[in-house]
Amino acid sequence: MNTITITEGTTGVLVPVPPEGVSFPPSAAPVFYNPEMELNRDINVAATAAFVNRLVLNSHRDIQPIDITYVDALSASGIRGIRVANELGVSAVLNDWNEDSYNLIVKNIELNKLFETTTASHKDANVLLHEKRFNIVDLDPFGTPAPFLDSAARSAVDLLEVTATDTAPLCGAHLNSGIRKYSAVPLNNEYHSEMGVRILLGKIARELAKHEKAMIPLLSHATRHYVRIYVQVKKGAKHADRTLKNMGFMSNCQDCGFRKPVFGLAVHIDKECPICGNTTGIAGPLWLGQLHEAKFCDEVLLELEKRLLNTQEKAIKIITLCRDELDIPMLYDQNIICKRLGISASTIYSLISALKKHGYKASRTHFDGISFKTNAEITDIERIMISGRLG
Ligand SMILES: C[S@@+](CC[C@H](N)C(=O)[O-])C[C@H]1O[C@@H](n2cnc3c(N)ncnc32)[C@H](O)[C@@H]1O
Ligand SMILES: [Zn+2]
Repeated sequence: MNTITITEGTTGVLVPVPPEGVSFPPSAAPVFYNPEMELNRDINVAATAAFVNRLVLNSHRDIQPIDITYVDALSASGIRGIRVANELGVSAVLNDWNEDSYNLIVKNIELNKLFETTTASHKDANVLLHEKRFNIVDLDPFGTPAPFLDSAARSAVDLLEVTATDTAPLCGAHLNSGIRKYSAVPLNNEYHSEMGVRILLGKIARELAKHEKAMIPLLSHATRHYVRIYVQVKKGAKHADRTLKNMGFMSNCQDCGFRKPVFGLAVHIDKECPICGNTTGIAGPLWLGQLHEAKFCDEVLLELEKRLLNTQEKAIKIITLCRDELDIPMLYDQNIICKRLGISASTIYSLISALKKHGYKASRTHFDGISFKTNAEITDIERIMISGRLG
């Protein structure tokens, strides 16, 4: 296999040269490497660093980063775990069942002289995660993480980090596939990106609960191509019970824009929309609790600011938006409301300030540039939009 050395963060990594004429992501390459995921990996370094700082500061014993174990269970070239080992100094296991990947991981450990802290592993990820506990478990699969969530939930002691690139099943575009993988029914409407994050978090909360573990989401972000979540794990049946109180359903009226979160797993939901009387749609079970912890986002921002990262500016923008977005389900799309009302859209900033002037909470979201969050009901939002007092 032909390889080249690339640099992400402060780490040099050997990755396969893509076959002639093939663009990324190169599914034809013997070992997977996608340069477009550098942003995801940069945020991963900063978020993991912020969490490692917490573990070190909060420990009663005098622990150092080297005492903290991290597993990159689906490593490919090893780039994600190599970066965490090299840039944070934690002890890492880089695993992949593909032989070419395993050989490349070994070379990348050598290249970075990480013999003391880092080992290569050549196993089925589920076997490894069933065998061993790690402080931090990272799942970065092709497509869905669903086949690995049970073993990852068993293995993770403090933090679980998960990427999902199967946004179509998560968001409802591939409905049956999503139902099979996540045991939940999504609605493919204007807030489908947030729906995807909450379906994934809901699945993870239930997987952790099986192992009597609670879930505290610290950071969740979504782009068009993937969802990435960081959840703190806490052992204890009572904690797990409390976590499940954040599960529930979204009731949604596609005709008038009414929506309502309904907490619980066995619930009564009105079929009729209270505003227009049409039949509502239901999504769930899904996570209705927090997507981010603002304090953790601040800690991630500090890490992003002090590190050498190629995607630093973009990463800071995303995490700042995550920190500042209202943490209530679900986002509104200004264009859709305007279309229904037959009016033209203002800027997102003037809409948000108009909502605030009327006494509501309102914020932008990290999901895209045109959506917003507010605690105002749809009828209030429409009234404010129509009143034209947006300036
Ligand atoms: C998307 S790639 C990982 C990308 C990598 N984390 C990165 O940031 O570049 C997924 C990897 O998982 C590996 N894989 C898939 N199923 C696996 C399993 N059951 N056990 C171990 N590795 C597996 C594949 O060989 C592939 O290299
Ligand atoms: Zn309605």
